[in-house]
Amino acid sequence: MGSESEPLCLDEFPDRLSSPSRTKLSAVAIMWLPPENAEPNQTKDTMEQCGELNGGTSGPAKRTMGLHNGSSPDFDVLVIGSGFAGLCLAIHLKRAGKSCLILERGPDVGGTWRVNTYPGCACDIPSHLYSFSFELNPRWTRMYPTQAEILEYLRDCADKYGLRPLIRFHSEVREAVFDETANIWHVRIERGETITARVVVSAMGSLNRPASPRIPGLERFHGRAFHSSEWDHSFNLRGKRVAVIGTGASAVQIVPQIAPSVEQLHVFQRTAHWILPKLDRPIRTWERNLFQWLPGYMRMFRTVLYWSQEMLALGFIGNPALMKLLEKSARKHLVKSVPDPVLREKLTPNFLIGCKRILISNDYLPSLCRSNVELVTDAIAQVRERSIVTADGTERPVDALVYATGFRATDLLSPVRFVGRGGIALDDKWREELEAFWGVTVAGYPNLFFLMGPNTQLGHNSIVFMIEAQVHYVMQCLKLMHDKQVTALDVRPEAQAQFNRSLRERMKRTVFASGCKSWYLDAQGKNSILWPGFSFRYWMRTRRVKAEDYAFANDSVAEPEPVTSH
Ligand SMILES: Cc1cc2nc3c(=O)[nH]c(=O)nc-3n(C[C@H](O)[C@H](O)[C@H](O)COP(=O)(O)OP(=O)(O)OC[C@H]3O[C@@H](n4cnc5c(N)ncnc54)[C@H](O)[C@@H]3O)c2cc1C
Ligand SMILES: NC(=O)c1ccc[n+]([C@@H]2O[C@H](COP(=O)([O-])OP(=O)(O)OC[C@H]3O[C@@H](n4cnc5c(N)ncnc54)[C@H](OP(=O)(O)O)[C@@H]3O)[C@@H](O)[C@H]2O)c1
Repeated sequence: MGSESEPLCLDEFPDRLSSPSRTKLSAVAIMWLPPENAEPNQTKDTMEQCGELNGGTSGPAKRTMGLHNGSSPDFDVLVIGSGFAGLCLAIHLKRAGKSCLILERGPDVGGTWRVNTYPGCACDIPSHLYSFSFELNPRWTRMYPTQAEILEYLRDCADKYGLRPLIRFHSEVREAVFDETANIWHVRIERGETITARVVVSAMGSLNRPASPRIPGLERFHGRAFHSSEWDHSFNLRGKRVAVIGTGASAVQIVPQIAPSVEQLHVFQRTAHWILPKLDRPIRTWERNLFQWLPGYMRMFRTVLYWSQEMLALGFIGNPALMKLLEKSARKHLVKSVPDPVLREKLTPNFLIGCKRILISNDYLPSLCRSNVELVTDAIAQVRERSIVTADGTERPVDALVYATGFRATDLLSPVRFVGRGGIALDDKWREELEAFWGVTVAGYPNLFFLMGPNTQLGHNSIVFMIEAQVHYVMQCLKLMHDKQVTALDVRPEAQAQFNRSLRERMKRTVFASGCKSWYLDAQGKNSILWPGFSFRYWMRTRRVKAEDYAFANDSVAEPEPVTSH
C-alpha cells in the first residue's frame, strides 16, 4: 500500500462515543475483569515458528510465516522495548505464532522497574492490580509492590513464557524507515545493523528519558549529581549534605528513605503537591495462601481494587464533589503529619486536587519535620562548586544533588527516527501535533503501532490495564491483516482526526485542564499524555478494531486488494 493517490477511503468516521446498548453490555462484561488468554502452552512448536534467536544475542534467526505475500522481511513483528508493554505483546505474539524479535537497549527485561532503583522506589497502584490479568501473582508481599518485587515478577514472566530467546539486549533502535513498495520496515540499531519486519511496535515507554533541570552553574558543581532514575549506588549519602530538587512522585519516596542517614537534607520545592495517605501493609501469609488456593478469590480481590481506583476517574472527569472529598482527606493528612503551621502553609497546594498526579505517602510529610531536613521554597538561582544559591541570596553547602525532576514524557520517540510514507519523519509531524488513533496507530505510518502512545496514560489506575487493552488492539489489527491477506494497514487520517477532536473536547472538561502546570501538558498547554476518562471505556472501545477506520494494501509485488467502499 502506501501511495497517496490510492482511493482507499470513502466513508465517514462513525461516532464511537455514542452507543448506549453496547456500553451497557460491555460494562457488565468487564465487571469481572476477565484475564486475557495468554497461556504459556505452546512452548516447543511456537518457539520454532517464532524466530527464536540463538542464545538471544547473536543475529536473528530469519522468520517466516503469516503476514506477507511478496517480499519477505526478517520478522513478522519487531518490538522495541521489554518493559511491561513489550513483554505483554511478546507473550501474545508467541501464542499467535507470529515470528517476532524484541530489541531492548538495556541488559535485562523490566523497563521502568529495572532502571529506577532509587531508595524507596515502589508502585502507587496495589500489587494485585499492577500485574497482568493472565498472570496473577498470589505471592505479593505488600499491598503496594516495591520496585524489586515488580522486577522479579517481570523477570519471572519472561522466563515462564520463554521470551528471553526472542530478546536481543544491548540493542538500541535508532531509526525505522518504511519501504512503501514492499510494505516493510527497515529498522536500524545502534551499531548500524538493519533488521526488516512487516510490523514494528514501539513499547519504548514514556517515563524513561530523564528531565534534568537547567540551572545556571550546574556544570561547575564539584559534588555528585544524578537523576532519580540513574541513582548512583557507588556514592554513599550517609553523613553528607544533600539537596533533592523536585517534590513529585519520586521525591516523596526518596526523601523519607535518605533523611535519617544524611547529615543535612534540603528539599527544593517549586510547587506543593496534594498527598493522600498510602494504605500499604504487608500481606499476611494466610492471605497469600488464600490467594494461592482460591484463584477466584484473588481475581475478585483484583476486581474490587480495579473499581475502587476507577472511582477516582469520576472526579477527574468533572465531579467537583468527589474532588472536594479527596482534597479534604489530603488536608487532614497534612494537618496530622505536619504540626508546624508555617511548614504546613508551604506544603499546601494552590491548585485543584488531581490536576497534577495525586501522590500517596505516609512518611514524606513527617520526614520534612525532622531537624536535619529543610523544605526550601525559594527558587534556585545558581549552583556553585559546592553549594546551591537561592533567589533570596542564601547559600547552602551541598555534597550531592539529586534531580527528582521527572521525565520528558512528551518526547515519546527519542532516540528513534520513524520515517513513514512520503519520507516524513514522525518527530517532525508530532512536533506540530502529538496525536494518534487510540494512542496506537498514526496515519501515514502503516504497520507501526505504539503501546502507551499519546493520550493513553492514566492518572488514577493501573497502566498495565491500558497496556493489555492496547496489546489486544494490536493483535486484532494483525488478525485483520491476516484475514484480508494484506501486507499494510494504515489508519485513515479522517478517523484519526475525528477521534482526536472528540478526545480534545472531553479533555476540556477534566480536572487536568483546570489550570495547573504539569508534565501532562506540552509547551502549548496541550495534554497529549492522559486518557481523559474511565479506563474501562478505553478497554471497551478498543475490544474490536473497526476495519472501516483503516486502509489496507498489498505490496507492489503481490496482487493488489480490490478497493471496497464500506
Ligand atoms: C519511578 C516510576 C514509578 C512508576 N509508578 C507507577 C505506578 O505506580 N503505577 C503505574 O500505573 N505506572 C507507574 N509508572 C509508569 C510506568 O512507567 C508504567 O506503569 C510501565 O512500567 C510502563 O511500561 P512500558 O513497558 O510501557 O515502558 P518502560 O517500562 O519504560 O519500558 C520501555 C523499555 O523500552 C526500552 N527502550 C526504550 N527506547 C528504546 C530503544 N530506542 N531501543 C531499544 N529499547 C528501548 C527501555 O530500555 C525499556 O526497557 C511509574 C514510572 C516510574 C518512572
Ligand atoms: N509509583 C509511584 O509512586 C511513582 C514514583 C515515581 C514516579 N512515578 C511516575 O512517574 C512520574 C514522574 O514522577 P517524578 O517524581 O519522577 O517526576 P514529577 O512527578 O514530574 O515531579 C518532578 C518534580 O520536580 C520539579 N521540578 C522539575 N523541574 C524543576 C526545576 N527545573 N527546578 C525545580 N523543580 C523542578 C517539579 O516541580 P513542578 O511541580 O513545579 O513542575 C516536580 O515537583 C509520576 O507522575 C508517576 O506517573 C510514580
